[in-house]
Amino acid sequence: MRFDDRFLDDIRARLNISDVVGRRVTWDRKKSQPSKGDYWACCPFHNEKSPSFHADDRRARYHCFGCGQSGDIFRFLTETEGVSFPEAVERLAGDAGLSLPERDPEAEKRAKRRGSLYEVMDLANGFFQQALQSADGAAARRYLRDRGLSQAIQQEFGIGYAPDSRNALKQFLASKDVSQDDMVEAGLLIAGPDISVSYDRFRNRVMFPIADARGRCIAFGGRALSADVPAKYLNSPETPLFSKSYLLYNHHRAREPVHHGAPLLVVEGYMDVIACAAHGLDGAVAPMGTALTEEQMQLLWRMNDSPVLCFDGDGAGFKAAGRSADMAMTHLKPGKTVRFVLLPDGQDPDDLLRSAGRDAMDTFIRSAKPLSDMVWSRETENGVFDTPERRAELEDRIRGLTRIMTNDTIRRHYEQEFRERLQAFFGHSSGKGSNRRAGGFAGKAKAGGRKAAFSVSRSLSQSPLVSSFAAGNRSSIISPRNAVLLMTMINHPVLLDRHDDAFSTLQFDQGELNKLHQVLVGILAEDPEQNASAIKDALVRRGYETLLRRLEHTLASVGLWQTREQADPIDAEEGWRQALALHEKGAVLRDELRAAELALNEEATEANFARLVEIQHDLESNEHIHALIEGFGALSGQ
Ligand code: UTP
Ligand code: MN
Repeated sequence: MRFDDRFLDDIRARLNISDVVGRRVTWDRKKSQPSKGDYWACCPFHNEKSPSFHADDRRARYHCFGCGQSGDIFRFLTETEGVSFPEAVERLAGDAGLSLPERDPEAEKRAKRRGSLYEVMDLANGFFQQALQSADGAAARRYLRDRGLSQAIQQEFGIGYAPDSRNALKQFLASKDVSQDDMVEAGLLIAGPDISVSYDRFRNRVMFPIADARGRCIAFGGRALSADVPAKYLNSPETPLFSKSYLLYNHHRAREPVHHGAPLLVVEGYMDVIACAAHGLDGAVAPMGTALTEEQMQLLWRMNDSPVLCFDGDGAGFKAAGRSADMAMTHLKPGKTVRFVLLPDGQDPDDLLRSAGRDAMDTFIRSAKPLSDMVWSRETENGVFDTPERRAELEDRIRGLTRIMTNDTIRRHYEQEFRERLQAFFGHSSGKGSNRRAGGFAGKAKAGGRKAAFSVSRSLSQSPLVSSFAAGNRSSIISPRNAVLLMTMINHPVLLDRHDDAFSTLQFDQGELNKLHQVLVGILAEDPEQNASAIKDALVRRGYETLLRRLEHTLASVGLWQTREQADPIDAEEGWRQALALHEKGAVLRDELRAAELALNEEATEANFARLVEIQHDLESNEHIHALIEGFGALSGQ
């Protein structure tokens, strides 16, 4: 975004949101209270009969309590009129009687580039849909019909067909004045130094457009019509518009039904999502053929507290479910969880819905397994625990599971839950009940090896490295990474929209930073539309002036300019992501370090010692400033 926050605020201050929105909606007389700047109407974003759309002049924001759409005057224009953000600013600045400030040509170029890629994707999308209806599309139409997809559902999902040609799309796009560079950058054309004539990426495939959360087409998945083609599905590569691990197929369509109570289902394939929708299960989404990522998990949790992950009940599906369970456990937070459905006989939801219908699917969804059950049965089913050694191994394994959890409260509750389960599980078989006395995870060291181990680990923990990593950082030096994590959100509060959860749950290893963070979260929650200087003023008023300066000084001294207020938010966001990733990895490594110390304490073997040293090494390089700067370099140098 190339507009100064202050300029945007100026426009917001001069225009009432009720005036801007009021050009499109009719305010409900009974419910609205103009004297309080409080307006209600039927929502322009979804169909409704009674008004649940609210505009608030004092906060200069709108929010629909029905479909969840919300934003400010600029957002309203981009959403209702399909104009780009700069256009919205331009128009509203005009309404407010302000002239546009000087522009940043670089940022402008980047924004234009993305804008034009959206147009290219739209053109391609139209072309594929048209091709499906043309003579060339006969086989694809038959394929879709044989798979039971009605015309209506095909249209709803924008299904198309890429003709069996090396240049049909290329020629079409060229006729619309799209440059080859744009076609390549949009991932539609394959070109390269050793390819003499560039050619269409998607050929003879049924095409599924993939949309972002706002419904804009940003990628495609293409399915081969026959089984003898090497890749059954071919997806768009990563492009400036498309990062597959950050997206969920059908996210934009599933949001509203889920908000209104439809179960949020995570299935494995495009066809599964579509089959669900065809059977009235509108809250289905899918990752892009990869295991669920953390980012996708966060998107899911924003829609619903307890999404249902569906997997084939075969070996591979069970493994995939296990991987998702581990990922979800790592990032669990109070109130958020996942549930699991394992479908019978290697069937996917598409197969099941067609063979057994919606009722069968509903039954499975209703009996979805809670995460803790899923993990417990993964660890215990098919296992034999007839000796103390085997039982100890199980206990250790389960202990390891709770260690990966990043949220302390969650970890405590899971430890307790598993402790109880272990007690119940071992209750009869353990004979003397020794496991019970050990209190599950308290874990008693064997008397024998203890002394020797103790001295090794003590000498290690006296090294500055271990003590600072394991015990938390007590020095007052602020790390650049922590400075990035805090200053980015102060300087670019717009990013909070996308990183609210990650930001508000951050934990620092320095008390003063934790305090500042808490205060900051409060300030931002009060008014999410503030600009950087208002936020800084608020912090200064609360006595954080010195700390704020030290944070800024830290960034300046290592030259991390991406975080500054004047920087492009896109760069700031990349920097923030990088810092967050390192921060999270640090937390995991610290836990591992603690575990390794315990292990060494219990048993002074060479292997345990080597493990400890290895983790120390990893931690050291993770904490190093180079880890942060390299990340910035790699990201901004793309
Ligand atoms: P599946 O192999 O489970 O296929 O892939 P499916 O969804 O049941 O497809 P149909 O029913 O045979 O048409 C699940 C998802 O994995 C990705 C796709 O996103 C697909 O939807 N995938 C699969 C690929 O990316 N490439 C492949 O070759 C196969
Ligand atoms: Mn399938």
